[in-house]
Amino acid sequence: MSGAIDNQQRGTWMLSGKRILLIVCGGIAAYKSLDLVRRLRERGAHVRPAMTQSAQHFVTPLSLATLSGEKVHTELFSLTDETEIGHIELSRSADLIVVAPATANIAAKLAHGIADDLASTLLLATDTKILMAPAMNLRMWLHPATQSNFKLLQERGIAVCGPADGAMACGEFGPGRMSEPLEIVASIERLLGDETKLPLPLANVSMTAQAEPLAGKHVIVTSGPTHEAIDPVRYIANRSSGKQGYAIAAQALAAGARVTLISGPVNLPAPAGVELVRVESALQMHAAAHAALPADIFVAAAAVADWRAAAASKGKIKKGSSGPPKLDLEENPDILASVATLKKGRPFLVIGFAAETDDVKANGAAKLNRKKCDMIVANDVRPESGVMGGDSNSVHLITKSGVETWPELPKGEVARRLVARLASMMRGAGQ
Ligand SMILES: Cc1cc2nc3c(=O)[nH]c(=O)nc-3n(C[C@H](O)[C@H](O)[C@H](O)COP(=O)(O)O)c2cc1C
Repeated sequence: MSGAIDNQQRGTWMLSGKRILLIVCGGIAAYKSLDLVRRLRERGAHVRPAMTQSAQHFVTPLSLATLSGEKVHTELFSLTDETEIGHIELSRSADLIVVAPATANIAAKLAHGIADDLASTLLLATDTKILMAPAMNLRMWLHPATQSNFKLLQERGIAVCGPADGAMACGEFGPGRMSEPLEIVASIERLLGDETKLPLPLANVSMTAQAEPLAGKHVIVTSGPTHEAIDPVRYIANRSSGKQGYAIAAQALAAGARVTLISGPVNLPAPAGVELVRVESALQMHAAAHAALPADIFVAAAAVADWRAAAASKGKIKKGSSGPPKLDLEENPDILASVATLKKGRPFLVIGFAAETDDVKANGAAKLNRKKCDMIVANDVRPESGVMGGDSNSVHLITKSGVETWPELPKGEVARRLVARLASMMRGAGQ
């Protein structure tokens, strides 16, 4: 495709040559910092690691040194380091300091100006931007002391990524899990200059309240699989989890839109505030989509079954001696094309998703033309990609002007960037 911005890797551009000082503290989540190093290096960043004494009980300096390809700094009073580099130089020469995991202890020290080891001294002796990824037991996180320390740090301009809700190593469930490495990478990219220039989310907030670029707009999102009945107990389905569509609905809502989420059968809670329409089959999804119009933006993220049983049996088909029954299929309506080709009341933007296992970009581009939509978000759903049902996605945005490839990102981040892009397309067209 001519004029294509097909560069693997907007993310590679963004972090290429960036110097990141990674401070690993003493928490169970320290093992995730090893993956974080790998993710940053594959995006071209230089990672210099430092560890607290406690961190070395959880991961070894050797692992960090091997993965980063750099010496690991652990001691404040190190003669060699102080002659060769010095703690001040170490923290000031970085483009960004990342503390992951950030313990309750390091937050308390930085909030109160304590510098009694290498990590806390590095943090205090610099004006380089700092990103902290807290990780701790939920009671430690919810403790008023920890809450007030992180609040104070944020007020002083320190960026915080997470923590997430979830199951903890200690067997409890709640807030305190460290954000996944790819989420931290996304925050780093945003801090070091993302093309969308959206403000960095604090804690679990995915878009700040003042950024409501879709205020007054109606966004319809279809999501999840459809189930096509064969008889009352059996159906044809696919492996879609609905996670990407639900994340888009949540981000459109956070961007100020009124959101109708038309969902096939999934095991996900609907984001509070969306108008949820639950459907089962492609025919029901088609009817619900047209009933929800008019809209400004239509995002067809659902994996709609192409075919349904031509005649679903009213009673359960019995296993008989004559072998398996013959299943006749007929084509389902094309929801995306039916909305994109509306003569009257077509949404300003109609966005389709293409789940492909081969020639992802070529098939996505063909779908863009066939369906007459404004953008196809094409993703690779081969089983080894882990996209179907997984938590991350790597997508190609295909429009008439070219293909743009995004690096692998958490589905929530794909949704945030996509919604920001749709809002800027609307704004660019004066809508
Ligand atoms: C098994 C174990 C797990 C721990 N996990 C965490 C944790 O996830 N988050 C945290 O803030 N502290 C955790 N701690 C407590 C810290 O290791 C302790 O507060 C330590 O002083 C932190 O030192 P640092 O901030 O210098 O790394 C844990 C302690 C133990 C023994």
